[in-house]
Amino acid sequence: MSDVVLELNDLHTYFFTDNGEIPAVEGVSINVHKGEVVGIVGESGCGKSVTSLSVMKLVPSPPGRIVGGEINFKGENLVNASEKRMKKVRGNEVSMIFQEPMTSLNPLFTIGNQLMEAIRIHQKISKKEARQKSIEMLQMVGIPRSEAIIDEYPHQLSGGMRQRVMIAMAMSCNPELLIADEPTTALDVTIQAQILDLMKKLNKEKDTSILLITHDLGVVAEICDRVVVMYSGQVVEEGTTRDVLKSPQHPYSKGLIRSLPKIYEREPKLYSIPGTVPKPKKGRVGCRFAPRCEFAFDRCFQENPELYYLNSGRRSRCFLHDDQEKDVT
Ligand SMILES: Nc1ncnc2c1ncn2[C@@H]1O[C@H](COP(=O)(O)OP(=O)(O)OP(=O)(O)O)[C@@H](O)[C@H]1O
Ligand code: SF4
Ligand SMILES: [Mg+2]
Repeated sequence: MSDVVLELNDLHTYFFTDNGEIPAVEGVSINVHKGEVVGIVGESGCGKSVTSLSVMKLVPSPPGRIVGGEINFKGENLVNASEKRMKKVRGNEVSMIFQEPMTSLNPLFTIGNQLMEAIRIHQKISKKEARQKSIEMLQMVGIPRSEAIIDEYPHQLSGGMRQRVMIAMAMSCNPELLIADEPTTALDVTIQAQILDLMKKLNKEKDTSILLITHDLGVVAEICDRVVVMYSGQVVEEGTTRDVLKSPQHPYSKGLIRSLPKIYEREPKLYSIPGTVPKPKKGRVGCRFAPRCEFAFDRCFQENPELYYLNSGRRSRCFLHDDQEKDVT
């Protein structure tokens, strides 16, 4: 489809460590359309960050490497793109917001220096114009006293303000795709809501596509059009946010949604999926979720299911859909 901005096709990203090969991302396919907000959810260690870092080609290497698949950004496969090309893509066409803004902001330079530099790399404008633009960007992301804040250092700002600065930086070049990896996890609930509102506003006003990584289904419900559920390096379910949250198909998604606290019901004990996400390793057989799945049967321990295409564009990786159409592409 022509309005696909990002197409991950059978992406494989592995880490080659002294303790063996770690297939952190194992055949992930995800599309993001123009102006769409797609969420990636899943428990810690399921490969959300490695997927997003792969798109930016920022997986630490060694030990990490993209070993297969395609990352098609507006039709261009970035897997083989040079570092020179990637420098242009990053910040210009695709921007990324990381979980902890302090790691991305340089403590030695003022907010203004860093914003102005980001703007001037991509736009040929004078220092004075860049400063004015930086102030406007800070105002746009709701930073009060922008004229003063611009001359302050990152440590002088609160966590919420730093995250806003990161968003201002990420948006300063009008990227077509914004990748946000847990952008609100470190923030308190009120600030979290404000940051989500801000991302929604940017999405609506500039038609920016957003790939939002989170482990919080509340955040997904708030902002995402579509959601992809990952488990142990693979996509296990995909659908519109409404469909997946209302009627999850995959046993893992069912467990995730069942473990959400319900506001109006007092439960004696909150449900949690037994066990933890296994560390990916080479040569695994069977469904990755089988050891934790309450529906598992013999076949689940012998074969890994393919993704099944269900009604209305949904995908789910589970043998329980065996009577339904299978993704054989
Ligand atoms: N530099 C690395 N070296 C070796 N293994 C790594 C490295 N980075 C990530 N991994 C492994 O890749 C897998 C996926 O990690 P990833 O960071 O993508 O998880 P995540 O879904 O983002 O989790 P979280 O919710 O905790 O951020 C994990 O098993 C992790 O141990
Ligand atoms: S394939 Fe089997 S183990 Fe895997 S999710 Fe489905 S029922 Fe559970
Ligand atoms: Mg992560």
